[in-house]
Amino acid sequence: MSNILITGGAGFIGSHLTELLLNREDHVTIVDDLSTGTPVNLKHLKNHPQLTFIHGDIGNEQLINEVIQEKDQVYHLAAAVGVALIAKQPIETIERNIYPTQLLLAALRQRIERGESVTTFFSSTSEVYGKNPKEVWTEEDDLVFGATTRPRWSYGVSKAIDEFLALACVKEYSLPIVIGRFFNVVGPRQTGAYGMVLPRFVQAALAGDPLKVHDDGKQTRCFSHVYDVTRAITRLMETPEAFGKVINIGSDCPISILELAERVIELCESNSQIEFQSYTEAYDESFEDIRRRVPDLSRIREMIGDPNQHDMDQIIRDVRDSLS
Ligand SMILES: NC(=O)c1ccc[n+]([C@@H]2O[C@H](COP(=O)([O-])OP(=O)(O)OC[C@H]3O[C@@H](n4cnc5c(N)ncnc54)[C@H](O)[C@@H]3O)[C@@H](O)[C@H]2O)c1
Repeated sequence: MSNILITGGAGFIGSHLTELLLNREDHVTIVDDLSTGTPVNLKHLKNHPQLTFIHGDIGNEQLINEVIQEKDQVYHLAAAVGVALIAKQPIETIERNIYPTQLLLAALRQRIERGESVTTFFSSTSEVYGKNPKEVWTEEDDLVFGATTRPRWSYGVSKAIDEFLALACVKEYSLPIVIGRFFNVVGPRQTGAYGMVLPRFVQAALAGDPLKVHDDGKQTRCFSHVYDVTRAITRLMETPEAFGKVINIGSDCPISILELAERVIELCESNSQIEFQSYTEAYDESFEDIRRRVPDLSRIREMIGDPNQHDMDQIIRDVRDSLS
């Protein structure tokens, strides 16, 4: 039974992680400012005796220094997330993703200087690979970002800075940190409000509205179920070889966005049509996309075995059922 802090626990991934840890009988404290998260994600856990919810900003130094005390583990999930949000609010993305991470690392360093160890999970993203042209991305590959005049890259760059900071703390202070790079995590409770494609498609299909596919729809992504991802990160936190490592987390089965739209329409038994939309219409003329995004999962498989138990159709059905 551990005493765990989750930053961003009222968000999509954080709420599922909270549930998993409470089911294991851990004590969980969430700090969330509800910027993109919502109490609705936690409503079924509201009166759980082992859950403490703090409505607050992890950019508040005093708060972070207080909540970190007595914790054995930290899962740092709070961030500005979502391509649409990032394209519209780059200042918020950069500030929200870097400064709180610095504060958290400083608080963790103080604990270690007192001889207390706190194992920590940092959530990073496949966006750190930028537009690396390789077919499959391994953790040691180069980060290839676009121009700074294209705000979209600020998300990947800000998360890359977090990774550099975390790895520096591993090196200089021996902080036990696992860095996970998530690849398109999906499932129940994910909102489409910030540009996430699967909830947008399922909502449109259920309503009989057109599914808006950006560009030619031939760009590919690998989608993983949030249940598989949360299980994987808790297992990595129990795996000593994972500490100090960057680890791809997700599925390695690519699907094009057009194929995804077609599967959603079929599994929702919908009469919706597919409409193509240019990136300029969807975002603005500065938007630049990534055509292909597939992780090499050798590292995670060596550590915890295959993390994925749900295929694309199961994921779509779960999202459909949660939104019906
Ligand atoms: N969902 C994905 O596919 C995906 C992919 C790559 C990386 N990630 C990473 O996973 C993490 C969780 O993402 P998610 O999809 O659950 O997004 P989310 O927006 O649902 O969750 C983020 C949570 O953090 C909270 N938050 C943001 N800034 C905060 C602050 N300063 N103080 C307190 N709370 C704050 C938000 O209110 C929200 O509840 C993020 O770090 C994100 O970068 C997610």
